[in-house]
Amino acid sequence: MLRLHANEHPQGPSAGVADALHALVPELHRYPVPSSALETAIAELYDVPLNRVLVGAGSAEIISLAWRAFTTPARAAFFHEPEFELYSILGDQCGTPALTRPWAPTEDLAKHLAGTSVGLVALSNPHNPTGATRPRQTIADLAGGLPDTTVVLNDEAYHDYADVDEDEPSLGALSELPNVLTTRTFSKIHGLAGLRIGYAVGNAGLIGALRSLQTPFSVSTAACTAALASLADPALAQERRALNRRNREALADALARRGFDVTPSQANFLFVRPPYGRPSWATDLLDRGVRVQPVGADLRVTVGTATEVATLIAAVDDVLAAAQTAHVGEQ
Ligand SMILES: Cc1ncc(COP(=O)(O)O)c(C=O)c1O
Repeated sequence: MLRLHANEHPQGPSAGVADALHALVPELHRYPVPSSALETAIAELYDVPLNRVLVGAGSAEIISLAWRAFTTPARAAFFHEPEFELYSILGDQCGTPALTRPWAPTEDLAKHLAGTSVGLVALSNPHNPTGATRPRQTIADLAGGLPDTTVVLNDEAYHDYADVDEDEPSLGALSELPNVLTTRTFSKIHGLAGLRIGYAVGNAGLIGALRSLQTPFSVSTAACTAALASLADPALAQERRALNRRNREALADALARRGFDVTPSQANFLFVRPPYGRPSWATDLLDRGVRVQPVGADLRVTVGTATEVATLIAAVDDVLAAAQTAHVGEQ
């Protein structure tokens, strides 16, 4: 089964990660050392004080802490529809309300939220499932237009795949603001989804609020060690970004030529509207060994390796041929 439904990176971690994990085996009977070595490395990477960084068991753990810290039954979380599925799950788990609005590439969100009681505004950026980005300046402007007590969660799980914009505010600059929290992950371009390791960068008050709710030892020694080893190889991330961009363009082009409506993406997935409005596209592809994520009548498709892209396109062609035959048969 070809997994193109979970936005995983198609390659695993670097060789340096494998060596570091192997060297760790004799120490695995020990409880984790505090994750401060990784937090220090991240603080140095973004040139921020150490108290602005928190490491978690995947960025999902940190996002979950943000729901617990900043939403209450009287203070909703705002997010778009569609969005990363976890956001609506967390509202249910915490028993706190969700305020939603259809996703729009440009909008005056601060104006829309005026007069509402919102504790957290969660925005995946690039957006899951469309892959569209919101410039970081827009995030800063939005935070400035909201009360300091409304926290903007800038969820950058896919930022490593996006084109670099030298002019955008740095994570350090965003962390100066009282109400912006940015989350990043090692699950995607670093190929470490199975180890569960991510982090947040934000104002010390926000980071402190999350840290006070975190379960001690939630982050394993193996996860921290692997993340540190991966950070030591920034060239690999750059290579992977370039390769993802090439494969994404090839996939977008191949699907567009087959009648799919393709939304421009800055991530490692594409949001596409299939031709003929067939409701069964995801099942039809699954029957041919390719798993993609249905989003209503649309599909979210992970960008794989060149070979995986070719396998997906062959499956799409097979579905289209079957649809054509059925259509002729009906006439
Ligand atoms: C938008 C977004 N944020 C966060 C995550 C969680 O990533 P992780 O918990 O693996 O760091 C995902 C996972 O797919 C995602 O799509």
